[in-house]
Amino acid sequence: MMKVQDGKVFGPGSATTTMAGTCGEMNKIKSQEKQMIKRRDFIKNAAVAGAGFLILKSGTRVGAQAPSNKLNIGMVGTWGRADAHFGVLKNENIVAMCDVNEDHLAHGLQHAPKAKPYTDWRKMFEQKDIDAVVCCTTDFTHAFVANWALNRGQHIYCEKPLGVSVEEVRTVRASYEKQRKKCATQIGTQRHAMENFNRCRELVRDGAIGELKEACAWGNRQVKPAGCEYDEKQGVIYMKDKSGEKRTAGYLPDAGAPPANLHYDNWIGPVQFHPYNPGYFEKGPGANCLSWNMFWDFGGGQIGDMGSHTMDLCWCALDADLPTTAEAKGDPLNNAITPIKCEFHFDVPANDWRGPIRVSWYEGGVMPQSPREYIDLKKIDHGAMWKGTKGFLVAGFNERILIPFGKETDMTYYKPRTKETVLPPLGGFQEEWINAAKNGTPEKTTCNFNYGGKMIEMMDLGLVAYRVGKKLKYDGATGKTDSPEADALLSKKYRDGWTLNG
Ligand SMILES: NC(=O)c1ccc[n+]([C@@H]2O[C@H](COP(=O)([O-])OP(=O)(O)OC[C@H]3O[C@@H](n4cnc5c(N)ncnc54)[C@H](O)[C@@H]3O)[C@@H](O)[C@H]2O)c1
Repeated sequence: MMKVQDGKVFGPGSATTTMAGTCGEMNKIKSQEKQMIKRRDFIKNAAVAGAGFLILKSGTRVGAQAPSNKLNIGMVGTWGRADAHFGVLKNENIVAMCDVNEDHLAHGLQHAPKAKPYTDWRKMFEQKDIDAVVCCTTDFTHAFVANWALNRGQHIYCEKPLGVSVEEVRTVRASYEKQRKKCATQIGTQRHAMENFNRCRELVRDGAIGELKEACAWGNRQVKPAGCEYDEKQGVIYMKDKSGEKRTAGYLPDAGAPPANLHYDNWIGPVQFHPYNPGYFEKGPGANCLSWNMFWDFGGGQIGDMGSHTMDLCWCALDADLPTTAEAKGDPLNNAITPIKCEFHFDVPANDWRGPIRVSWYEGGVMPQSPREYIDLKKIDHGAMWKGTKGFLVAGFNERILIPFGKETDMTYYKPRTKETVLPPLGGFQEEWINAAKNGTPEKTTCNFNYGGKMIEMMDLGLVAYRVGKKLKYDGATGKTDSPEADALLSKKYRDGWTLNG
């Protein structure tokens, strides 16, 4: 097993490899850092001076193989979801890699053997040559890594969700507002590049369903933590104790010392300590998030998971701002585990092309009412629906159904776009971020931290409304509700040594 301390790698029987931060190399490193900063300024200035210098119209980069034309990437989380990024990142320089699991770090380093390895992302941020960060860690660390990157002027691609509390998301959005002319951001809702997102947006925006009144999205899956069962009727998640007796499930029981390859204290990171249990790591690569994201301290349940993708399908047709109210109802509250079945409703203010609308999210099998009884919405596992004054639009990620109603079902009120004016394909989603970073156009990403941040702020607020069990008024300008009890739940308490906005 490779042994990593942040700053050094000890391979069995091999020479020690030194890395940034070791004393003997400080002077050499300082001069390297100066060169790297110059190089970074060069990329930025060249891009600002003339976007066409770096990216041709065709998207072909001039001298793409030249080192100065690549981004220096720091990757946090190098296994699982990270595997979805190596293909695109192979054209850049991955200069730093961090994972709390040394085996997973070794997996990532196969893609970038020269990258400096870390097991604590705070140490990674001491490395000075990083232009851009890709974050594929647990949901409860996303806002931390995103803020730290933005505060250092680094571009950041962050897996969804952007944060697991209202405060986390608002802090990242505030950091983004300061850096939006400099840092390209993208939330990892890559399904946004699917063609159907644009087609649904066009139909809603162009009035195919009349004036928009309501919009919703849903996700059917029921995710249960390790060793737990779900009593759907009662809405209770339970586990059996040694005597076979059912008891309400909580955080997983202490299973002793974590394996030597896992820096468990760094995995827990900012949140309140919970003892190690292999159940938090039981699912396979790319799906392991389902092992921990149903626990309040580790995620927001399905809201942060498929909710991020599916509400994005709905949200992209709304041009919405933060809601003015939030309410929710679902399974009885469990203090450790987020609800499986739950519905959330928000009042979203008018904008310049529509009036106020009601936006809803349904999860775990609770469903919106079908527009027609012969249409079983449940058969669309993850879907969205928009209701206007003249019709419904129902969609999955790949397809859509338009249902006009009322007196104008001939739809003569609606003028479809010409071929020339349909929204163009987005192209590669990760590439969109890389191009925005290199091209001096950092705001040109579709799921930037403002667009996607507001969406997840609304959803995180919904979880607070669920916890307090009452309808909340929300002031998006101050980030406060009309309930002190709810306000106390908008933020989380972190462990010493972990700073959200560092
Ligand atoms: N966009 C998508 O379609 C999609 C798909 C799957 C997962 N995800 C998201 O990706 C993220 C990771 O999901 P996963 O299933 O790969 O989870 P995971 O538990 O496997 O974690 C991914 C990697 O991050 C490492 N890690 C965890 N905490 C870390 C920390 N504090 N510092 C450094 N490394 C850390 C883990 O050891 C692991 O190697 C989640 O936020 C999830 O929501 C997105």
